[in-house]
Amino acid sequence: MARLWFYGSRVQNKFKCAGVTIVHMKTLLDIIKTNINQSPLAAYTDYPFRKIIRKYGCRGLLFTEMISGRGYQMNPDFHNRFIKFEDIDRPVGVQLFGSDPEALALTAKDIENKFKPDLIDINMGCPARKVTGKSGGAALLKHPNLAEKIIVSILKKMKTPLSIKTRIGWSINDCKSKDLIKIAEENGLLCVFLHLRSKKALFSGALELENFKTLKSFFKIPIIANGGVYSKEDYDRIVHEIRPEGFLIGRGSTGNPWIFNINKPDYKEPTREERISVMLEHFNLMIEEYGETSGILKFRKFLKPYLKGIPDHVKFLPQLIQFKTRQEIIETIQKHFQATKLLD
Ligand SMILES: Cc1cc2nc3c(=O)[nH]c(=O)nc-3n(C[C@H](O)[C@H](O)[C@H](O)COP(=O)(O)O)c2cc1C
Repeated sequence: MARLWFYGSRVQNKFKCAGVTIVHMKTLLDIIKTNINQSPLAAYTDYPFRKIIRKYGCRGLLFTEMISGRGYQMNPDFHNRFIKFEDIDRPVGVQLFGSDPEALALTAKDIENKFKPDLIDINMGCPARKVTGKSGGAALLKHPNLAEKIIVSILKKMKTPLSIKTRIGWSINDCKSKDLIKIAEENGLLCVFLHLRSKKALFSGALELENFKTLKSFFKIPIIANGGVYSKEDYDRIVHEIRPEGFLIGRGSTGNPWIFNINKPDYKEPTREERISVMLEHFNLMIEEYGETSGILKFRKFLKPYLKGIPDHVKFLPQLIQFKTRQEIIETIQKHFQATKLLD
């Protein structure tokens, strides 16, 4: 029998749960449906990234980077640092991956107890061989029975709303997600997050929009679409065509926290000054979080997306990447942008 979440009645304006005050104006599902949400990106969607996108745009759900169910059972302390968040960051979903139903259920329970996230999600879409090789991630598209065992064992152990994030199929046009969506619906999960590309298409290639529309017509469970949005034009075109119940943005949000506002009538592109100022704020948060050496290294991947469209960025970027101290980097950015009259 379908299991129903009474989450809507729990998440009112404000409620207390084991001493934690959770503030929400709407139900979690309403929040997911009415806002653009952040898609999990391993090695990107860490604590500083989530702080920046919450501050500059995202009113929807934020995700942590994915956590291995088995790995967590072996070394919870190592993994707990990836889950860190404050009440002000809510709603936050923690994503797990793996194929061992018991380990995933125990991990979901431990994380529920320790962090009280707003959602637990199971990754059923990651195409990386180190994940699919152990029957996790997208491999679950081919093993719906195992996927169901995972879902059932987690539901037995915890009360937090549960979702899955998967891909539309294994190969182009096979729509293998149909089996997983059916299982999610029958077990009363909150929603399904669906990357509109197959596992074989990886991260590029056409989105399967027609297939999405057909799939959507079979189910009542909300299917939140994802993939290929880098601009307001992309979003308007895709959403107009497929009318999903909600949307997640992944790569388009790196260096562009404002992208989460593209569905608002008063949306304005950020100015170059805003881009540089938020880039520096993000950079400083990374150093606060990881220390100078590691923070600089981890921040490098954000430089290109933040600097996109800035004069000379193609020449300027390789210069910046050579520096090893915060001061050198900040001074170089300031000098460059005074020279190009972007900063005071
Ligand atoms: C670097 C990188 C890391 C990713 N990490 C995750 C992850 O941890 N969990 C997940 O479900 N999807 C992950 N994805 C997939 C994205 O969440 C998203 O589904 C995909 O990139 C398509 O959306 P986009 O075109 O908006 O980026 C990752 C994608 C990339 C490129």
